[in-house]
Amino acid sequence: MQNTLLTSARTSVGKLGTGLALLLVLLMLFGATETYAQSVRAPGNAVNLDDGIEDGPSNALGDDSQSDFWRNFRGGDPNDIKQMLEARPEGAVLTTTGQHWRELRENYIRKYAGWFPLGVIALLLLYHLIKGKMRIKGGFSGKTLPRFNINQRVSHWFMASVFTILGVTGLIILLGRPLIAPYLGKEVNSVLTSASMQGHNLFGPLFIVALVWMFIKFVRGNFFQWVDLKWIFKLGGFFGGHVSSSQFNFGEKSWFWLVILVGIVMSGTGILLLFPWLVDDLRWLQLSTILHAGGAILLISVLFGHIYVGTAGMEGSIDSMLKGEVDENWAKEHHDLWYEEVTGKSATEEEGTS
Ligand code: HEM
Repeated sequence: MQNTLLTSARTSVGKLGTGLALLLVLLMLFGATETYAQSVRAPGNAVNLDDGIEDGPSNALGDDSQSDFWRNFRGGDPNDIKQMLEARPEGAVLTTTGQHWRELRENYIRKYAGWFPLGVIALLLLYHLIKGKMRIKGGFSGKTLPRFNINQRVSHWFMASVFTILGVTGLIILLGRPLIAPYLGKEVNSVLTSASMQGHNLFGPLFIVALVWMFIKFVRGNFFQWVDLKWIFKLGGFFGGHVSSSQFNFGEKSWFWLVILVGIVMSGTGILLLFPWLVDDLRWLQLSTILHAGGAILLISVLFGHIYVGTAGMEGSIDSMLKGEVDENWAKEHHDLWYEEVTGKSATEEEGTS
């Protein structure tokens, strides 16, 4: 009796064990298929190369083994890719460099890019809360000096408008999927993204015009000088103390050259992305998308600092770009060397004293 009970218990445990094992195998199989399906899913625009290339291009084998060829090919070896595309010009290739590029774009740039401009805004808010607006110490004198002519101001606002349109549409294209789609839905994101693509493609070439125009109108006065070193050592006077400066201070000069140099990179990479057939090595396009996104994030982040100093951060600044004139006391305090140059008077002496 005892033996029968023991045997029946053993049989039940055995059945349970077999059942669990089966369940585990099924779960593993299901899980593996899921993971496999995700990890090898090709991008939507990938083209399947048909059976003709299974052996590689006709002259690919030589002394090399099949696996050597495919390893180099996947690594992005331009010769192998060229051979392949010559054999199949209509094809698209899925290489390891391409996969690395996708990973960088999807897992890093799309995930973290938005934090840089947000970080700059947070720092500016913090600075403003602690230090407040930088006032003209002597107050407005009521007397003004001409600073920018109409050509310079139109060139500046043309650049500002084009840049704003490109910045907003570019951010939607780059960050729409992680930031808009989950909250407003895929449909809204898709409409916004395709409209942004059209706008971005249309206004992109105008950025090049704006850049050249801005360079011509502002390059005079933006060459670095020894006096700029004092500005650097005194941290621009943002934490107290007076700093001497000519027409543009070190911060403004750096902003000017950043706009010009990064602007050239943005224009070059933008042209490649607009006309991809200009290059035959896919890796130039991959590099272009990374540089284009990185440059945009850099310029947009620093732009917030520029807008802050031009508006809420410094009293009297915006007049120079709106009216073309600045108050004499503003000029004496922020651009003393320039004041002395244009008026022939000392920036430190009071009116009427000699
Ligand atoms: C939309 C908001 C903007 C505001 C409120 C603004 C404001 C100003 C102001 C007040 C100045 C004159 C500073 C002075 O008199 O010393 C200035 C100069 C300048 N701005 Fe803007 N700006 C804006 C957008 C932009 C954009 C989008 C760019 C370029 C991408 C830009 C590039 C420049 C440059 C290169 C200068 C001349 C500084 C130099 O040559 O060193 N600005 N801006």
